[in-house]
Amino acid sequence: MKILGIETSCDDTGIAIVEKRPDGFKILADFVSSQEDLHSGYGGVFPSLAKREHQNNILPIFERSLRKAKMLKKTNGCFDGKKIKKLEELLERNLELFNQLKLFLEKYEKPDIDLISVTVGPGLEPCLYVGVNFAKALSFYWDIKIVKVHHLEGHIIANYINQTPDIAFPAIGLIVSGGNTQIVLAEKLGKYKIIGDTRDDAAGECFDKTARLLGLGYPGGKKISELASKAKTNNFNICLPRPMIHDKNFDFSFSGLKTAVLYEVKKRTGKELQSQEYKEEMSREIERAITEVLIKKVRKAAEKYGAKSLIMGGGVAANSVLRKQMKGLSKELRIGLSVPKLKYAADNAVMIALVPVLSKNFKEGTWKTIKPNSNLKINGI
Ligand code: KG4
Repeated sequence: MKILGIETSCDDTGIAIVEKRPDGFKILADFVSSQEDLHSGYGGVFPSLAKREHQNNILPIFERSLRKAKMLKKTNGCFDGKKIKKLEELLERNLELFNQLKLFLEKYEKPDIDLISVTVGPGLEPCLYVGVNFAKALSFYWDIKIVKVHHLEGHIIANYINQTPDIAFPAIGLIVSGGNTQIVLAEKLGKYKIIGDTRDDAAGECFDKTARLLGLGYPGGKKISELASKAKTNNFNICLPRPMIHDKNFDFSFSGLKTAVLYEVKKRTGKELQSQEYKEEMSREIERAITEVLIKKVRKAAEKYGAKSLIMGGGVAANSVLRKQMKGLSKELRIGLSVPKLKYAADNAVMIALVPVLSKNFKEGTWKTIKPNSNLKINGI
């Protein structure tokens, strides 16, 4: 069985083709087109620009993926002109994509794909629509089944890509990305309960917004992390709050931290702000504040629910300090820890294609009914 994965929930356009085999799975193609450079000038993802980029990139990446998977075959003249009208309707809000797809369908025949697995939420709605509409168009034209996948479930499944994860259930999952910060209790793959969530900004968003205040560009997490690792001095005595760290619940709030950084930055002279030392010390303190809160809440959740392992996922899971601290925590609690390979911590389509292979938390849909839900909950698919 060959599965096409489609991911467009934020600023990465991902297409993957995965083959389910009796002994597991094989990745036949895996492409991600990043928009980092485009958004760096804005200090964050600009939804309408991101949508435009997804529209421009999704078909070329799809074509590359089919070529890589040796599934791209020239048509023998079976182009179905009658269906094109309906296709235009399905892609009426993505006309550029429709034009590209029409040319593609004239040229190539139906590939050997058995299932389309697409992210339907959560994410930026205009972006989600591009992936979902593309999936609907292919599903309709080639009569291929389609399944709806939750983006954060994908981040958990990412732990199974190119490694055998040390996961035992019940597990506590920390999913930290640009749009989400959740602690999830996983009874097994596909059975989740959200026990902690952010009340405002996500951890990645906090990294990105504070990086912007320091003039570091987007995405900020990586840049803050790099500067933080260089910090040696303590000349500025920066002390940021650790929001909600002592609260009994497992929720987070990072917008106050961003405001505290803003006030701290405002106290400084231009010369101080421009100094490398200030940027490094501030980055270290931002990283410490965010990771300390995350770790404290994960520890409490793991103890309360008797977790047998910890799982990480999402772009912020690439943070080396957070990885190190999660490792320390797992050793201290004597439970397993699974962290995705760096490449698969960020958004990608392999994790989306793998959800119907490894989990049961997905729903079949049809091109007639399927639509995105930008606020979808992990247990609400
Ligand atoms: O999961 P992801 O690729 O996209 C979504 O948000 O869905 O996560 C992107 C987020 C950004 O906020 C970025 O700043 C953050 O992950 N990030 C990091 C690091 N690398 C990426 N945050 C902290 N440290 C890093 N090394």
